[in-house]
Amino acid sequence: MTNKEQTSVLITGGNKGLGFEAARRLGELGWTIFLGSRDESRGQDAADKLIAGGAKVVMVPLDVTSDESVAAAVQLVRQHTDRLDVLINNAGAPGNFVPPADATADELHSVYDTNVYGPVRVTQAFLPLLNAADNPRVVMVSSGGGSFAVMADPTQPVASMHELAYSSSKAALNMITVRYAQALPHIKFNAVTPGEVANRKFAATDMNRHTGRLTVTEGTDPFLELATLDADGPTGIFIDRLGPIGW
Ligand SMILES: NC(=O)c1ccc[n+]([C@@H]2O[C@H](COP(=O)([O-])OP(=O)(O)OC[C@H]3O[C@@H](n4cnc5c(N)ncnc54)[C@H](OP(=O)(O)O)[C@@H]3O)[C@@H](O)[C@H]2O)c1
Repeated sequence: MTNKEQTSVLITGGNKGLGFEAARRLGELGWTIFLGSRDESRGQDAADKLIAGGAKVVMVPLDVTSDESVAAAVQLVRQHTDRLDVLINNAGAPGNFVPPADATADELHSVYDTNVYGPVRVTQAFLPLLNAADNPRVVMVSSGGGSFAVMADPTQPVASMHELAYSSSKAALNMITVRYAQALPHIKFNAVTPGEVANRKFAATDMNRHTGRLTVTEGTDPFLELATLDADGPTGIFIDRLGPIGW
């Protein structure tokens, strides 16, 4: 069991990219890291790296598109703790950037399964453990692409990246964040984009073939900000590393 003083966090898609970097940074704070990974061996490799650096890490096999996998993840986490302080719904799928005229419902469905239904599946399943924490926090990893304010601004490069699945999935995730925040005020639900919206920057990861101009450390600054909120911190906000951004 984790002791009362040690903060615990579950990070979905923690085996690489921003999820891994968030795990590394929170591990440095002495937190217990439940490192979600849909592929066990990739997850174990990532966990081993963090453990070698001194972090306390439990690898949790977790495919956010599977009810069975999520239920098994709850059972595993329960073997180590009776509460979860922080959940970071980070796992995400970019889709195939199919132009709107060619986009099918199947294409949208596969992206929504990860980016929309995934965070709902995981959040819902972990609510009892979150409810047992003194100051539970849920961080939804969204995107500037999910912001109507960003997409309606023609000077934003994403506004001319024509696709339907990814941007609309993150817009749905934003609304889900707001609705959870309103209904469950004892848990902080906040959304984050890893970029700098004002400077048209995003973080270099596999998802964008490392074309981002921010490091993963910079990209995870707002993850850390929301994960470490005090009890009197905000709920229902959307931020990047520079501050609040438009929905
Ligand atoms: N990079 C940016 O600047 C940027 C900007 C806006 C939003 N985001 C968001 O940030 C989050 C992390 O992305 P990233 O940039 O770090 O990309 P990444 O390096 O490609 O990481 C994506 C992670 O999600 C995992 N994943 C995908 N489908 C999953 C599933 N069904 N179940 C569990 N895990 C799954 C991947 O696992 P596998 O290794 O098994 O594929 C991987 O660990 C995503 O939600 C993304 O939309 C990133």
